[in-house]
Amino acid sequence: LYRKASAKVLPTVLLIGPSGAGKTTLLTLFANGTPSATHTSQEPQTALCQLPSTTSSHEDRYRSEHDTSSRSQPKFLLVDTPGHGKLRHHALSSLTSPTALKGLVFVVDSAAVSSAAGLTETAEYLHDVLLLLQKRHTQSKTSRDPQAIPVLIAANKQDVFTSLPASLVKSKLEQEIAKARQTRSKGLLDSGIGMEDDGGDDEESNWLGQYGAKEFKFAQMEEHGVEVKVIGGNVRGEGEEKGRVEEWWAWIGENL
Ligand code: GTP
Ligand code: MG
Repeated sequence: LYRKASAKVLPTVLLIGPSGAGKTTLLTLFANGTPSATHTSQEPQTALCQLPSTTSSHEDRYRSEHDTSSRSQPKFLLVDTPGHGKLRHHALSSLTSPTALKGLVFVVDSAAVSSAAGLTETAEYLHDVLLLLQKRHTQSKTSRDPQAIPVLIAANKQDVFTSLPASLVKSKLEQEIAKARQTRSKGLLDSGIGMEDDGGDDEESNWLGQYGAKEFKFAQMEEHGVEVKVIGGNVRGEGEEKGRVEEWWAWIGENL
């Protein structure tokens, strides 16, 4: 009862990822039930969404099977951000602004990451996003309510025949993030940034995941309060076929 009364602010789920990954198409599908045609986004966009009746929500876990009272599916705000390299400040600032952020969906074009350039671009953006979440968690550790934010990596466009399966998207991103982490920390050393004892902004706090580790695994984010899951799907289907997004809905339902 108390929870219900205090839950006035709608939970927010953020869509982030490189340009062309399918964020805006996903927003139209989640908000309207069907995907619409899109243009490259230049500004963030917010839509009110409701969990479909076929998806169970976090609160359903506490309901008894014999509870026949009507079930109202939770509503949330879905925020789409532009993926273009010059417009990413929108996405990064919404990560640090205080909202009821319940989760972050990082949308990946599973066909684009099969090319070296596409993989690097995606991994570098993801590295920066995860590092921000890690810092957000570190800074809030002392407060009573450390902010743990789960991340869904949506390996989109599984309908495209050149796309990589979700398991491969995961391992390729982990390998590439390890490289990005290495080059970023070297860059810091070379430029002298982080060498002074300015507390907090040292080399260690700019290192993603397990400090000093050679390999990067998404599981390393857990001790920094970030649980990462990689799930495949597609917003658009071939021809008459519908998209495949049920598992993404399920993830949102679990985290609302
Ligand atoms: P920015 O706004 O530039 O950041 O890109 P975005 O991530 O919002 O991409 P958008 O939703 O505009 O989609 C880019 C293109 O990918 C569009 O032509 C979509 O129709 C297409 N697309 C999105 N999802 C899928 C999918 O699952 N399968 C296929 N085949 N195409 C998709
Ligand atoms: Mg867009």
